[in-house]
Amino acid sequence: AMQTIPRDPSLDSTLDVVREGFPFIWNRVRNLHSDIFQIRLMGQRAICLHGPEAAELFYDPAYFVRTGAVPRRVQTTLMGLDAVQTHDGAEHRCRKDAFMALMTPQSRGRLMRLLAREWQAAAEYWAGQEEIVLFDEAQEVLCRAACAWAGVPLPDEDARRRARDFGLMVDAFGGAGPRHWRGKRARTRTEDWMEGLIKQIRKGRLEVAAGSPADVMAGLGDADGELLSARMAAIELINVVRPIVAIATYITFAAVALHEYPAYKGLLRADEEYTEYFVQEVRRDFPFAPFLGARVRQDFTWRGCRFDKGTLVLLDVYGLNHDPRVWPEPNVFWPDRFRHQAISPYNFIPQGGGYYDTGHRCAGEWITIETLKQAVTFLNTGIRYEVPAQDLRYDLTRMPTLPASGFVMRQVRPTG
Ligand code: HEM
Repeated sequence: AMQTIPRDPSLDSTLDVVREGFPFIWNRVRNLHSDIFQIRLMGQRAICLHGPEAAELFYDPAYFVRTGAVPRRVQTTLMGLDAVQTHDGAEHRCRKDAFMALMTPQSRGRLMRLLAREWQAAAEYWAGQEEIVLFDEAQEVLCRAACAWAGVPLPDEDARRRARDFGLMVDAFGGAGPRHWRGKRARTRTEDWMEGLIKQIRKGRLEVAAGSPADVMAGLGDADGELLSARMAAIELINVVRPIVAIATYITFAAVALHEYPAYKGLLRADEEYTEYFVQEVRRDFPFAPFLGARVRQDFTWRGCRFDKGTLVLLDVYGLNHDPRVWPEPNVFWPDRFRHQAISPYNFIPQGGGYYDTGHRCAGEWITIETLKQAVTFLNTGIRYEVPAQDLRYDLTRMPTLPASGFVMRQVRPTG
């Protein structure tokens, strides 16, 4: 029988999304006792989905498309206009293949070696400072290594401000007013810079290693074989570097977890496997992506509920990571859960679900995990430091969010 989708009583939920932030969908799943409900968002009807079964539906390209799903304000800050995230079918596949070609073990290994060098150099610099803010420092470390890996020349004196610009694009995604404009300006500056590089590469004036991200994006064509515009190639090259810089957010959360649960420090030293559980728990427990959007490709019915073509559908990412039906004691930071937890493409989706090649799942998930493991080991064994009193709380109503202090470290000394 046809079911009516439970309705949020609010006439328009746009303000509630802003007020509640990350737990917006999850709050209503619990109040309405339903993994599916409908709202009005910016004047249009939208359906919210929660849970592994809903994620499986959301990631079936037979039912959903991404074209027209990402708000312009998010495209002009976070990901760039008309980027890989907004395409479907052959056009998406063409671009996604280019990203996935950068994710071979050899290519990732090269990034890890560059990162190891940058962490070491940073530690020596920090030793000469009274105190440092880990979030800012990590952004710079990641930016330097990511650019070197990508084939993007980055003069020393530019590293700080370029890293900051990548960070501002991410910081803008759930923001309005000044935060949005700052992100937009950062994106324009970065696109201008990268577009110049793409043009130089295409003219043969800048040599880049074959198969490097800059080389791959400069040569990328669309599904008809037509070379992407230099601006579009720049946007996709930014889609490689920016999210690597964004790993600074998870690194900062990982530092907080190490500080607040020092008992794990010994376990991390003793057991290589444990480092993986630890970073998976960081990705589960700490918020980054709140929810994802898609539009209904064609009319269909799911669990008796009608989905009309064109309807905006939001999939809950944050809430699934805190659902006790999947994660016992979800609000406890407990890496050991990953020893036994069965992971499917749909029940653990901090960076999207489904499949890498055919769907929209994050191309950089392996890089994120490896980078985090390396950073956790570095924080735990590569340096010694003191953590002065500071405000480590993070605000769930702000998207994205971060520990308020950015994690201040004092008296940093390399150990080796
Ligand atoms: C897509 C999160 C790191 C490249 C995504 C999506 C999420 C996400 C939620 C969307 C999935 C969907 O639309 O279904 C994150 C988080 C990261 C991270 C939280 C950690 C900071 C990275 C890294 C890279 C990367 C390191 C590349 C080096 C991409 C690309 C897409 C994507 C290219 C678009 C995939 C597509 O539309 O097919 N990411 N990501 N991400 N991510 Fe990441």
